[in-house]
Amino acid sequence: MPHRRDFLYRFGTFSLGGLMGAVLAVPGVRYLLSPLFAAGSGAGEYQTLARLVDLKVGSPRLFPVLGDKQDAWVKYPKEPVGSVWLVRQPEGAPTPVVAFSAQCPHAGCPVALAADARTFQCPCHNSSFTLEGRVRNQIPPRGMDTLKIEPIDASLPDAEVRVQFRRFQLGCEEQKPLV
Ligand code: FES
Repeated sequence: MPHRRDFLYRFGTFSLGGLMGAVLAVPGVRYLLSPLFAAGSGAGEYQTLARLVDLKVGSPRLFPVLGDKQDAWVKYPKEPVGSVWLVRQPEGAPTPVVAFSAQCPHAGCPVALAADARTFQCPCHNSSFTLEGRVRNQIPPRGMDTLKIEPIDASLPDAEVRVQFRRFQLGCEEQKPLV
């Protein structure tokens, strides 16, 4: 019959070994799974997309936005993460440039300039927008999503146009940023 002290000794050794194994395993598992919980691209930062001289009044231009893409375990720096339409405004307007996300607020397809360059159109389900980003038909739930621009000194010919790129919830009436 096993001695009581022998039993306690074996039980204690077994428990201590299990505890130490768990302590060592947790950081390892956390390390392996950490990419799954990593933050996304640099959305929310201001990026220089153009110079004021690159833009003509009433002629929207599309610019790519670069950011860090990350899959489960690998980070890809400076990859295209979205696009932005910049529209130069006439003199006297409240702001020299307006920025729209090129992601359609209906279901996320890329919004393009119509052939006559007078409207924006989304080819997926025919959403249509004015050059001011307002809806022109019943398909999109809201106008094109506007993006913040850092104040521009229009008196400087090579003034930079710096835009805060964000993504927004699709399919709803309000422009709600994704976190
Ligand atoms: S995604 Fe643009 S119209 Fe549906």
